[in-house]
Amino acid sequence: MTESVMPTYGRLDVAFTRGEGVWLYDEQGEAYLDALSGIAVCNLGHCHPAVSRAIAEQAQILMHTSNVYQVPLQSLLATKLTELSGMSQAFFCNSGAEANETAIKIARKYGHSKGIDKPVIIVMDGSFHGRTMATLTATGNPKVHAGFEPLVPGFVRVPYNDIDALRMAVSHWPEAVAVMLEPVQGEGGVKVPAAEYLDEVRTLCTQRKLLMMLDEVQTGIGRTGEWFAFQHAENSLPDVLMLAKGLGNGMPIGACLISGAAVDLLEPGNHGSTFGGNPLACRAALAVINTIETNSLLAHVTLMNQQIVAAFEHALSGAEGVQFRSKGFMFGIELPIACTELVKQALAKKVLINVTADKVVRLLPPLIMSADEANKMVNIVSELVLAFLATQPKASVA
Ligand SMILES: Cc1ncc(COP(=O)(O)O)c(C=O)c1O
Repeated sequence: MTESVMPTYGRLDVAFTRGEGVWLYDEQGEAYLDALSGIAVCNLGHCHPAVSRAIAEQAQILMHTSNVYQVPLQSLLATKLTELSGMSQAFFCNSGAEANETAIKIARKYGHSKGIDKPVIIVMDGSFHGRTMATLTATGNPKVHAGFEPLVPGFVRVPYNDIDALRMAVSHWPEAVAVMLEPVQGEGGVKVPAAEYLDEVRTLCTQRKLLMMLDEVQTGIGRTGEWFAFQHAENSLPDVLMLAKGLGNGMPIGACLISGAAVDLLEPGNHGSTFGGNPLACRAALAVINTIETNSLLAHVTLMNQQIVAAFEHALSGAEGVQFRSKGFMFGIELPIACTELVKQALAKKVLINVTADKVVRLLPPLIMSADEANKMVNIVSELVLAFLATQPKASVA
């Protein structure tokens, strides 16, 4: 990588020139099994023909006009997303952080509409919401804050998956207007809360007239085996739902959906985005949704999850101190020690993985992954984990 690119990422020493399905090819033409999907973006794999075709076609018709005009493809996408989610309206932007910024602005507007001058949003330990000033403040990771203080006021933090802590915070903060959380914490280490947690948060938010704002930037668009992860719960329809990543399968697009008390707060002039919801991005997202539907990929994810979980549990059954977690096609293998070097070791074996929260191997394979490809992923990753643990001194693992 040239020095003219700002060094905001620690990059691996490989560049890909081509992708097809779950495979990426480097400059030498070597194939790599992609178990990360560009961090939950390429849910349909690389260059899915239906999506590539839609983008190529649209690029020859109309790419961008402006949000000062009607954008029929945007309306179509909004209708589709509201039908799939049960939400009422959508705002389009270009990334997860922007979708979350929209939610934060809605929460503040909601507070002001109730006469609360300094509204407070309750956020979670271990969360990740983005890199803009407000979303990094909302993020529950001190490493993300460091060097960027003063942070944005108006956020308080509670432990994740702890409904009593949330109840206490709500009682303690009369200025609280919203609760913002991920239905599964991805960057935080594939943390899956108790089955009843989201419903309990919903009930509390309804009782205390708080907006429930779900960050489904990583979990949305089929990643967990439902269109949206909240749909695994009984009764967790949020007031605000934030999406990005898999929505465009690589075409940058984010969305903030609203329902209930979140509707009718933003008015013309309150919010916007030059690129947000342009015809090109919306056409790509419509093709993504259509492809998930026509290929029954939600059912595929649910079925394959069982196979992958069983295979990992078998392969890692003897590994001391290892915890395995999953929801759909989000897999986390938590080791008892930091294991970031596994990323490079996997790369050497031509498999792309990620380690998050220092000691959690995270796999986010494309939703189209076949049984054979999944077996390959499980075999290589579990061998690497076992070999890594075997080289560690006993005391550090115990
Ligand atoms: C849950 C969640 N929210 C927000 C973001 C930020 O999205 P973006 O990088 O598109 O701004 C991410 C990115 O990893 C995420 O996982």
